Amino acid sequence: MNLAGKGCIVTGGFGALGAAVVQRLRAAGATVAAIDRAPKLQWDAVGFGGVDLADPEAARAAIDSAVTLLGGLYGLVNAAGAFRWETLADGDVATWDLLYSVNLKTAVCASKAALPHLMANGGGRIVNIGAGAATKAAAGMGAYAASKAGVAKLTEALSEEMKASGITVNAVLPSIIDTPANRADMPKADFSKWVKPEAIAELIAFLLSDAAADITGALIPISGRV
Ligand SMILES: NC(=O)c1ccc[n+]([C@@H]2O[C@H](COP(=O)([O-])OP(=O)(O)OC[C@H]3O[C@@H](n4cnc5c(N)ncnc54)[C@H](OP(=O)(O)O)[C@@H]3O)[C@@H](O)[C@H]2O)c1
Repeated sequence: MNLAGKGCIVTGGFGALGAAVVQRLRAAGATVAAIDRAPKLQWDAVGFGGVDLADPEAARAAIDSAVTLLGGLYGLVNAAGAFRWETLADGDVATWDLLYSVNLKTAVCASKAALPHLMANGGGRIVNIGAGAATKAAAGMGAYAASKAGVAKLTEALSEEMKASGITVNAVLPSIIDTPANRADMPKADFSKWVKPEAIAELIAFLLSDAAADITGALIPISGRV
């Protein structure tokens, strides 16, 4: 994979998956900026922390600053997000707003802010993180699955909207990712079945590469052996 000199932004870039994506894209030669609500990582010179990407103005300001630093924008990876398991009977209605905001609205705001820069570049790539769980929602997964189903529809609609602009828009749909948080939540599970962040980062790097120029509007499951 060669992404030499390509400017890329990874939202949620300080998280478990986002950090693996930042690392993989840098290894492929890209210049990468991470934008996250979490505090800026000390080791990451090109990182923007404390940004709520569900706020359109904050998203635009952070994306504009990152693009200035990168010298242009070729790729946006929307990896900001969160998970909650809650039944409707015992859960809180506010959880539906929360997950809509962190999983869907962050991708909407970051993508909208990125579009003028991608167009100025003459084309580019957007990769969203959906979820396999959105295909068929299990009990307790309603709010999460609904928000990730929204990410799938954003992906489809924006890919159609951007066909004439040379911007591809795709989504990867992980099942349970092998993260420290998931290991802590499910200590008895067989971790070897879970997809590794590095494997998802590899797929995302492919979708950003020249080889994937003709792929757009795709929703690609990546589920390890789950
Ligand atoms: N982990 C899984 O098993 C799994 C499975 C399928 C899909 N996914 C999706 O994959 C993506 C990454 O998951 P992960 O496990 O790497 O999660 P993670 O470690 O929690 O990282 C997500 C990052 O996104 C940030 N974020 C959340 N809301 C934000 C906002 N409004 N503005 C800016 N940044 C925000 C978080 O910051 P804070 O710490 O401040 O919240 C966090 O740093 C998410 O979209 C998730 O839904 C995960």
